[in-house]
Order: sequence, then C-alpha cells, then structure tokens
Amino acid sequence: MTLGMKKIFALIAACVPAVALAAGGNVHLEEHRTDLHDTASLQRGAQAFVNYCMGCHSLEHARYNRVAKDLDIPEELMMDNLVFADKKFGELMTIGMDKADSKRWFGAAPPDLTLVARVRRPDWVYTYLLSFYEDSTRPWGVNNVVFKDVGMPNVLGHLQGRQVKGTAPVAVGFDTLTGQEILEEHDDVLYLAEEGTLNEEEFEKLVFDLVNFLTYMAEPMALERQSLGWKVLLYLTILLVLVYLLNKEFWRDIK
Ligand code: HEC
Repeated sequence: MTLGMKKIFALIAACVPAVALAAGGNVHLEEHRTDLHDTASLQRGAQAFVNYCMGCHSLEHARYNRVAKDLDIPEELMMDNLVFADKKFGELMTIGMDKADSKRWFGAAPPDLTLVARVRRPDWVYTYLLSFYEDSTRPWGVNNVVFKDVGMPNVLGHLQGRQVKGTAPVAVGFDTLTGQEILEEHDDVLYLAEEGTLNEEEFEKLVFDLVNFLTYMAEPMALERQSLGWKVLLYLTILLVLVYLLNKEFWRDIK
C-alpha cells in the first residue's frame, strides 16, 4: 500500500466513530421532514429559539441581519422581537453567559448551536427535543433518551407536559374489522402523565419549527443553492436548444 493510500484509509477510519456518534447509537430517531422553503416555519423557529434557547445557547457564527434577510423578517420587526436589547442589527448572535459559570451550574457548558443540525443531524436534534423524561435521580429531575444523563434542564417541559418513561400501551397495528388500533403493553416507552399548555400536535409543530430553523442555521447557503440550481438548469436547457439549432444549421449545406 502506498503512503498516500494509507493516509486516505486512516482518514476514513477517523471519520467512522464520528458518524456513529452522530447517528445516536441504536436508539430509534424520529424523522424530521426538513422544509427550508417554509418561511413561516423558519420564522416561528427563530422566534422560539430566541425565547426558549438563547438564554443559554449562542449562534455565534450568525448575524441578526443575515437571518432577517434570509427569512424575510423586516428590520423593525426583527429588532423589536428577536434582537436582545443591548445588540445591534448587524451583530453576531452571541450571548452573555459565562462559560465557567454555566459549567458549574449544568455540569457542562451549553454548546454553541450554529452547526448542531449538521454535526448531529436534524433527526437527532428533533428526537432529542421530544425525548426528555422525568428522572428524579438527575439534578434537574430529567433525563433524555438520546442523550443519557444530559446536563440541560427540560426547558420546554411546561409546554409539553410531564413526560415519563415506563410501561404503557403502544399501538402495534390496526384491526380492519373493528376499525380500532391494536394495543400492546411495552416497557420503557415515553408517555405523557400530564398535559402541558400545548397539545401533542402543537408541541411537535413547535419542535419541528425549531429544528427547521436550526437546519437552516447550519447551512444558510442551502437556501441560495437550491434557487441557484434551478437557474443553472434553466440556463442549460436554453443552451441545449441553441446548440441543437446551431448543429442543424452547420449540417444543412453538407447533406
Ligand atoms: C438553562 C440553559 C439551557 C437552555 C435554556 C437550553 N439549553 Fe440546550 N443545553 C444546555 C446544556 C447545559 C447543554 C449541554 C448538556 C450536556 O452536555 O450534558 C445543552 C445541550 C443541548 C443540545 C445538545 C448539543 C450537543 O450536540 O451536544 C442541544 C441540541 C440543545 N441543547 C438544544 C437546545 C434548544 C433547541 C433549546 C431551546 C428550546 C435549548 N437547548 C435550551 C442548556 C440549555
């Protein structure tokens, strides 16, 4: 094996654990049907992020004005609702929390989330936010299915309600004769012991919007790239027609 090839293999080997980690082990992940064209969802996600997450997490590679432009949010609306009082429109979305303090409070400093949807994948972040459950042995009284012994409190708990892990009936199929779901008792399932201020559908929508926003955040160019893709295709189609006509013109006198 040449040295060059060895280096390539070493590089591939180094990437494998990262991929396995990003996939979240063997826990089933909920699918996040990311839709970067749903501007209203991205706007709601941005608002929710500022309200519920930015107390602890920064988006330090993003600027408010770029987000406002990408998500069609007018400057005034953005300044009134999404930009912290001491910040300017063109500033980075950093926060004031001290890393050493937060490490002391939570056991781990809340990481910057600009790229989290790319590092962990949207499905993982979506499942993570839906899978906090009560665990009285933990400092914040909660644990998480995809992030064991997580240091983050369940900040959306009041909206979702009290989610617990235990034995509960799970729909395993559908009886076409009676028109009813077939239920089976399973261990270690998550279920709501008490409703929060949102119902299940509303809560999932909120988390969907949040992850949609974080997915845009991890790759803001994706929005531009998609519209650029269509322009390139259009250009190629026009070129094809012109080349075809030119080809016909060249051969006319020869035949
Ligand atoms: C009270 C502070 C706090 C708030 C508010 C908060 N988090 Fe966290 N978050 C943390 C801490 C601390 C960690 C690190 C947990 C650990 O490493 O054990 C974390 C970790 C995470 C992670 C995992 C990152 C990784 O790749 O390891 C994600 C994703 C996340 N938070 C998303 C959110 C979202 C979305 C919101 C808003 C709905 C939010 N957080 C609100 C404190 C917070």
